Amino acid sequence: MRFPAEPFSASRSRRRFLTTTSLAAAAVWASRAEGRVLANPSFPADPFALGIASGEPTTDGVVLWTRRAPKPLEPDGGMPAEAVEVSWEIADDEAFTQGVRRGTVTATPDWAHTVHVELTGLAPARWYFYRFHAGTATSPIGRTRTTPAIDTMPDRLAFAFASCQNWEEGLYTAYGQMARDNLDLVLHLGDYIYEYPAREMRVRRHDGGPTDSLAGFRIRHALYKTDPLLQAAHAACPWLVTWDDHEVEDNYASTASNPGATPEQLLARRSWAYRAYWEQMPLRAANLPDGPHMTLYRRSTWGRLAEFSVLDTRQYRTDQPCGDGNKAPCGEEMRDDATLTGSEQEAWLLDGFRASTARWNVLAQQVMMARIDRAPGPAEAYSMDQWPGYEQQRRRILRAFAERPKANPLVLTGDIHSHWANDLVIDFEGLPSRKVGAELVGTSISSGGNGTATPAGLNAILAENPCLKFHSQQRGYVRCELTPEAARADFEVVDFVDKPGGKVSTAARFRIENGRPGLVPA
Ligand SMILES: [Fe+2]
Repeated sequence: MRFPAEPFSASRSRRRFLTTTSLAAAAVWASRAEGRVLANPSFPADPFALGIASGEPTTDGVVLWTRRAPKPLEPDGGMPAEAVEVSWEIADDEAFTQGVRRGTVTATPDWAHTVHVELTGLAPARWYFYRFHAGTATSPIGRTRTTPAIDTMPDRLAFAFASCQNWEEGLYTAYGQMARDNLDLVLHLGDYIYEYPAREMRVRRHDGGPTDSLAGFRIRHALYKTDPLLQAAHAACPWLVTWDDHEVEDNYASTASNPGATPEQLLARRSWAYRAYWEQMPLRAANLPDGPHMTLYRRSTWGRLAEFSVLDTRQYRTDQPCGDGNKAPCGEEMRDDATLTGSEQEAWLLDGFRASTARWNVLAQQVMMARIDRAPGPAEAYSMDQWPGYEQQRRRILRAFAERPKANPLVLTGDIHSHWANDLVIDFEGLPSRKVGAELVGTSISSGGNGTATPAGLNAILAENPCLKFHSQQRGYVRCELTPEAARADFEVVDFVDKPGGKVSTAARFRIENGRPGLVPA
């Protein structure tokens, strides 16, 4: 199923203030068929019930996001079937006495009355405050920033990464701490929503109906965004987001569906899911979906300190080998044509990595890259949904890491609802065993419930895998600091997520020295 090319909300200059939009946004605006636009609609409830967000920071801009949805769990969000005006403003100060820019955008029902303002022309390495207005209503205030100039070496970048926030399985206590962490950037590595139907006896319920339509996916995203702690984390700094499987369907691979839906059915599902995802995230028009296709892999740089390559390992992957799951190698995992990224994204990744001059080269992606043997003793079992199921491609990437020992590759991973600190090691094809990078696998925000710090079999898996330095199955996230000299990673955990009041603490801390691959306890 393909949706016709349709406009999304775009800025219009009001001349009183200089308003800047991207060329892409301007082009989309220009192609928009003129219709009725409500300038001062009245709303039955808070029109900003889903909060605000920013993302995709560059040296001179950022995307500001909100959605007009006074009744977020209704198919139309409680909005009329008409376009509405939303104004926005950014300032140097939280009181908005030092205004920087202001403008008005049109939010249309075609795009669920979402707003994506693509700002340019801002100063590099600067914090700004932003908010929206609709009628007499004003949104919460968000804080966002631009990235440092390309030719500068910043002293520090503080970021966190998160994944897997099943609404029904736990509260977002971790986001409350993240909002207080004074971060420059948050990366979300996928499973922002879960597509599952509502279940009883959970911490909270998937109200609003099933995800079997565009309206269903919109409501599911809206339900998640009603969480005040998630809203607070979005309001604290810009985000870079990518998806994993549950934004569409558990463990899907390109057009191959887990429960056996036809490729046509999965493509229809992808169309609804990708469109709802774009609508609900602070993404650029450059990433607009085209039916079941949406280019999400992209790069972001932080001066000369860091380059982030944000990957999509679901849309283009070949089907999981050996029947998926944790399996003994069956031979299929060594196929040359198996790919997690598709050939185009792989070439983009490796060409970019080889050309990068950044001190730290960060891959923000979904599935674990370290080849962790899950079976104690002489037996072997590897996750066929992860990079070891695509072993030849995994080796190509690790060989590229080995070619550039000063590039400091750092892989960030989500997906598996547990913390893992892994050295990335070349130990194949008769090559001398050596560390070529590090992988930080962040646990889930809520998926899996309270969890445990000492899962059964932990000591066996640690003994089986010398590259593995730390593991926990509590909920939480990973907070990182990059400097020119070192990277630091704090593995944060929450003591419980089944009721309010959980405490967040640091379960393990590691350092990586510039030019010396491998994790060192800190
Ligand atoms: Fe997950």
